This record gives sequence, structure tokens and C-alpha cells, in this order.
Amino acid sequence: MLYIKRQIMRPPQILALGGSLLRPEESENRQLWLGKLRQLAVHIEGNSRKLGIVIGGGLPAREGIELAKNVMSNPDCLDEVGIAATRLNATIIQQILIEIGCNVAPVIPHDTNSASELLANYNFVIMGGTKPGQTTDAVAVTLARDCSAAECIIATNVSHVYDKDPNTFPDAKPFTEMSIDELIEITGTERMAPGQSAVVDPVAVNIASVSNINLAVLDGRKVDLIEAALDGEEFYGTLVRS
Ligand code: UTP
Repeated sequence: MLYIKRQIMRPPQILALGGSLLRPEESENRQLWLGKLRQLAVHIEGNSRKLGIVIGGGLPAREGIELAKNVMSNPDCLDEVGIAATRLNATIIQQILIEIGCNVAPVIPHDTNSASELLANYNFVIMGGTKPGQTTDAVAVTLARDCSAAECIIATNVSHVYDKDPNTFPDAKPFTEMSIDELIEITGTERMAPGQSAVVDPVAVNIASVSNINLAVLDGRKVDLIEAALDGEEFYGTLVRS
């Protein structure tokens, strides 16, 4: 009897990696973190899975925006400086994966349509920002939508979404699960200022709401948490149901 090997086509998975994860003060040992991220990539490619990674601007974005702010104030122009920094960080991750022979797109796409097309041929596509008025969280959710992914993982530098800023309010309560409308109440809907940080960008939350994309918000400093979420296991963080 002849058996036909069927390959089940799953949509690519999408991960937003906050640029803060590359900041010296955020990651005790960035070398170790990057090494674990590399191992995770090997695991994903070994299982023939596909992953789009959208990386934030972190320190170079903040430095560039602060410098430019001294002589200009147009938020779109400042955002372009931030976008350039996200692409720098994307190139770092891309080249790390290329060096170990991963099947990574050799370009950093500038829009999510191109990224989604590249994911048809590569196991990994790494990108940064696309346009002013948003952050890379919004790029990741848009990419999830374009790839027909049901979920977008937002790896940031806090453990959960809290009801208020845990750095300012010690009694802030973390959510394990919440609805997208509850998240909208926390983030609001205002465009963020260039270089501003928030647990999730309101633009991203709005796209997730309209496109029915769930968000898994977790502490990206711990690569095992990212891995658990990508493997569909229970993860430590906040599941936002859309
Ligand atoms: P991010 O805000 O995405 O990077 O982009 P981040 O702050 O390092 O990520 P988190 O906070 O750790 O999650 C940095 C800046 O780049 C511009 C914005 O000015 C943003 O503040 N940007 C980024 C855009 O204008 N458009 C994009 O699509 C992405």
C-alpha cells in the first residue's frame, strides 16, 4: 500500500520582541539571552515551523529620537528615526540567525505584505517598523493578520498586563486573562509619542480587536516563556482574548 505523506500547513507564528530586551540594563546577560533565542530558532526550524519576528527600537531608538528632538518636533519625522533603529535591531537578530545557517529571509521587509510573502519561502522573517504613528507591536499584529495567524505574541519587559503601571503603583494587579475591550480601557486609543513606551501600543490593540487576533503578553527576558507560548503550552503572562 502506498502512503501519502501529508504536510499540514499551519500559518506562521508572529512574535513582537520589545527592543527593550536588547537594552543593557534590561537583560542581565544579553549574550545568554541571544544564545537562547538562537536555540529557540533552531527548535522552530527543526519542527518545520515558520516565525515572523518584529523587533523594537530599544536604546538606539530612544537615543536617536532624543538627539533629533533638540532640532525638530514633527512626530512623523521622529518616528522615522525610531523606525531606522528598529531595522538596526532587526538586522542584528537576522544576521545572528543567518550565521548559524537558519533559513532566514535575507532582507528586512519594510511592510507586512512583503513579510507575509517572504514567509512562504523562509522559516524566519525578521523586521522592524513600517510607518510613523505606531510601534512595532502594531507591525506584529498587522503581520499576524496578513498571515492569518490567530494570535500574536508580545514579548516585553514586564510579566503581565497590569491594571495600572506596576513601576509606579506597588498594588497594581496583574491579569492572567482579559478581553481586548478590557485592554483598550487600560491602553486608551491615543497615538503614542515617538519613543514612548507602553505595555501594548493602542494602535496594536485596535488592530487586534478589529481582526480578532488574540495577544499573548509575556516577559521576553525569559526565552522559555516565549518558547512555551510558541509551542501552544500554558504560559506565564496575560492572554488577551479578542
Ligand atoms: P518601538 O516602540 O516598537 O520599540 O519602536 P521599543 O520601544 O523598543 O519596543 P518596546 O517598548 O520595548 O516594546 C521605537 C519607536 O520607533 C517608531 C516610534 O517612534 C517608536 O516609539 N516606530 C516604530 C514607528 O514610528 N513605526 C513603527 O512601525 C515602529
